[in-house]
Amino acid sequence: LQRVYLSKIRQAGCRLLFRDVGEMSFKEKINTERLPEHIAIIMDGNGRWAQKRGQLRVFGHEHGVNAVREASEGAAEIGISYLTLYAFSTENWNRPKQEVESLMHLLVETIDKETPTLMKNGIRLNTIGDIDSLGDDCRKQLFKAIETTKENKRMTLTLALSYSSRWEINRAAQNI
Ligand code: FPP
Repeated sequence: LQRVYLSKIRQAGCRLLFRDVGEMSFKEKINTERLPEHIAIIMDGNGRWAQKRGQLRVFGHEHGVNAVREASEGAAEIGISYLTLYAFSTENWNRPKQEVESLMHLLVETIDKETPTLMKNGIRLNTIGDIDSLGDDCRKQLFKAIETTKENKRMTLTLALSYSSRWEINRAAQNI
């Protein structure tokens, strides 16, 4: 289901999601009485998207950030309470060093740049996953944005970073 959601968002280029498309915009077609409280999206396909266009995978990740912004703003706008983005799995650490470094850099830069947008849209940032395995820069930026946005009430945006089913099971067991 999450993949279906993502692929719909991707097909729509996200931009179309809330734009007027002739008779009725996607937004108008949404029945706001029957919205889920929580939507989770697995970020996938950035690399293939870029390669199809003859570009490096990192180009796809950079464009993925635009999709993240539009999905987050759009979800907050229609009244979703929780949006979880599965952005970086533990397996992703096995990618070429340069790709991992670019992703971490992009993450730090995006969190920094987008904090004002989170504030403007009343979005609280949260994170799950093995955050201790992230670099110092990344953790610092993440905690700074979490602290800055902590009073926001409209929607909670959770970034799953260094996530794995093992981590989720461990956390669930600890909470029993
Ligand atoms: C999936 O595409 C995407 C990722 C593994 C990383 C996504 C992370 C970012 C764009 C960093 C910024 C993130 C946020 C949340 C601000 P893929 O490489 O698996 O593509 P493929 O399926 O075509 O190989």
